[in-house]
Amino acid sequence: ANADVHRSSTFAPVNIAVIKYWGKRDTALNLPTNSSLSITLSQDDLRTHTTASCSLKYTRDALVLNGEDQDISGARTQACLRELRGLRKEVEAKDGSVPELSGMALKIVSENNFPTAAGLASSAAGFAALVRAIADLYALPSPPAELSRIARQGSGSACRSLFGGYVAWKMGEETDGSDSAAYEVAPAQHWPDMRALILVASAEKKDVSSTVGMQATVKTSERFAHRAENIVPARMAATEECVKSRDFATFADLTMRDSNNFHATCLDTSPPIFYMNDTSRAAVRVCEAINTHAGRTICAYTFDAGPNAVVYYLAETEAQVAGAFRGIVGHKTGWDNSRGRAIQAGEVPK
Ligand code: PMV
Repeated sequence: ANADVHRSSTFAPVNIAVIKYWGKRDTALNLPTNSSLSITLSQDDLRTHTTASCSLKYTRDALVLNGEDQDISGARTQACLRELRGLRKEVEAKDGSVPELSGMALKIVSENNFPTAAGLASSAAGFAALVRAIADLYALPSPPAELSRIARQGSGSACRSLFGGYVAWKMGEETDGSDSAAYEVAPAQHWPDMRALILVASAEKKDVSSTVGMQATVKTSERFAHRAENIVPARMAATEECVKSRDFATFADLTMRDSNNFHATCLDTSPPIFYMNDTSRAAVRVCEAINTHAGRTICAYTFDAGPNAVVYYLAETEAQVAGAFRGIVGHKTGWDNSRGRAIQAGEVPK
């Protein structure tokens, strides 16, 4: 029995923010300076697959990502493991007949089916999958909100990948982070025709990590406080509203403005941070041209901490939006056409 290996596997999808998280008020707990809102993509598309196992025969905790050993000594990963073990201890204390998994070393094996750390929210899917796989392994009774709060400590945006569809991360007010977690604004089937076109301008690792970038922005940008305090709160409310009423034109306008506002605070950081490149700016112009040609807003671009574009649009405008993009940029160098495909918002199992 000592050689028993206990095991559980899960998928977690990527989420792409519409209202961006940028800035931490507490770097140890990953508490944000503003709330954010995202769409969780279908886990048939961009996702992390993770298997967590534990056994008395393992000698130390280990994490293998895409076949490579990862350093898990960082405070973020350690915080997630500590919290999950603590919850397992509670389960064991309540029921003396369950195995003492909390005392065993963990082995976590993850695979991403997309480029890691290229501004495609790999850490979001990664930590969401890690937390859910261990929670399943430990048979924790925790609701998604609690797992979301734990995943947040691994990577802020990961807290949103514990929910499917349209998801908000409430920044919370408490200093211990107990009220800083994600919640579902609407399930994917509420607005099922939403599509995301992912255009990979570069699959290279980004040069400024989001953690380093956020810290620099919080410290040096004069525009930053204005964004966090005056711009985002109203935008959060307005975006939740247009998701509920399925108002695409307003949703698109808010999405593009928020991406631009976030990248403006990056540019206002000293020294400036450039996540978008010439290829990204070409994608912005293509979106603008598509909307102008249509005579109404049918697509919205958004960029995370990297040059890759995500273009949101509705299925009924597939030919006008995705078709135009494929025609214009599909053959140009700098774009990986194989990633320029439409993917849908999706659910995650509860
Ligand atoms: O979760 P992090 O620390 O990788 O930060 C993600 C930040 C953005 O992707 C740029 C915005 C967001 O809300 O996802």
